[in-house]
Amino acid sequence: MGHRISTLKKSKLTFKKTPQRITNLALTKENSRPSMIRGESERENLIEVLQTCRVIDGRVFQMDNERYLMPCDDLEKTRLQSQHDLFKEIWIGNFSSPIHEKLKQGGMRVLDAGCGTGNWTLDMAYDYPASTFLGVDIIEMFPNNVQPSNAGFLQYNIINGLPFPNETFDFVYQRFLWAAFTQEQWIHLIEDFIRVTKAGGWIELMEFDVEIYNPGPIAKKLSDATQKHLSSNGINPKIHSKISKIMTNTNKFESIRTLEMTTPLGNWRQTSQGIKALEDIVATLKSLQVALKAVLGVDNHEYKEMLEQFIEEGSKYKMYIKTFRFFGMKAEMS
Ligand SMILES: C[S@@+](CC[C@H](N)C(=O)[O-])C[C@H]1O[C@@H](n2cnc3c(N)ncnc32)[C@H](O)[C@@H]1O
Repeated sequence: MGHRISTLKKSKLTFKKTPQRITNLALTKENSRPSMIRGESERENLIEVLQTCRVIDGRVFQMDNERYLMPCDDLEKTRLQSQHDLFKEIWIGNFSSPIHEKLKQGGMRVLDAGCGTGNWTLDMAYDYPASTFLGVDIIEMFPNNVQPSNAGFLQYNIINGLPFPNETFDFVYQRFLWAAFTQEQWIHLIEDFIRVTKAGGWIELMEFDVEIYNPGPIAKKLSDATQKHLSSNGINPKIHSKISKIMTNTNKFESIRTLEMTTPLGNWRQTSQGIKALEDIVATLKSLQVALKAVLGVDNHEYKEMLEQFIEEGSKYKMYIKTFRFFGMKAEMS
């Protein structure tokens, strides 16, 4: 079976081996719920959905990515879109590596690993029309018929080894995969990012610290439950504190930089970003609802009440979150 790649002309990228086609969730593009069965192709789509997804509490989850606890439905798409806009605004831009001029000049090949809905990939493709952008994700939440034509998407499980020859990309980017990998997998993935990056190219990882700072009592419970759930799945909830070290230990970077951003939750600093960040964390906690309810031993109604109290606590306790960008240039002689 061939891999699924949309829009990007194949001539722009060559692949070392044919990537395994994982599952096609075959959700309708506008609506991630299965469509009404009208014809043979719709019937096939529905069968695929039933084979590859499970629906819990009205949210759609992927079946063959057991460790990953986020859903892959319309609500999740909306969350990822708002989150992209918010963090682009907070960080005043889509990336921190010093490559703006090179991207502008063109001819740069860029990989967005775990691209989700593809917001970053598309935004970058519009900003830098002379460079080429490829988003890769295990699920097809990205658009199928994309504009601009210098962007494309591939459905692939990046833990299986990136399906590209050595030194394919000038820039490899990955954002918010904190809930997806064990620390061991992070180490292998970063090594693979280095392999597919050209000497002199850049790698940038952006991550959350899942801790809520200055938490109120409910925020503390939710933050602790998130960390407990991640740990019980073999995921290091503090992976952000390891990434720079993992990069350094490869001895393949010329320089590594870490940038940290704190963002208030709520209106206590009278910024619209604080209000939007609180909304983003609430949306994330809704995506985690199925997992966290079990850890907390609460039902849907009680969880909803907890989220309402969480919102109140934002300004009352002056809560805040931290996000990080880690970036470095692959050494010429690595
Ligand atoms: C929180 S979302 C972030 C999406 C995007 N990077 C962004 O910042 O908007 C994490 C994404 O990682 C994807 N993902 C999880 N495990 C993966 C894997 N093994 N291979 C490829 N993508 C994966 C999920 O499907 C999801 O789209």
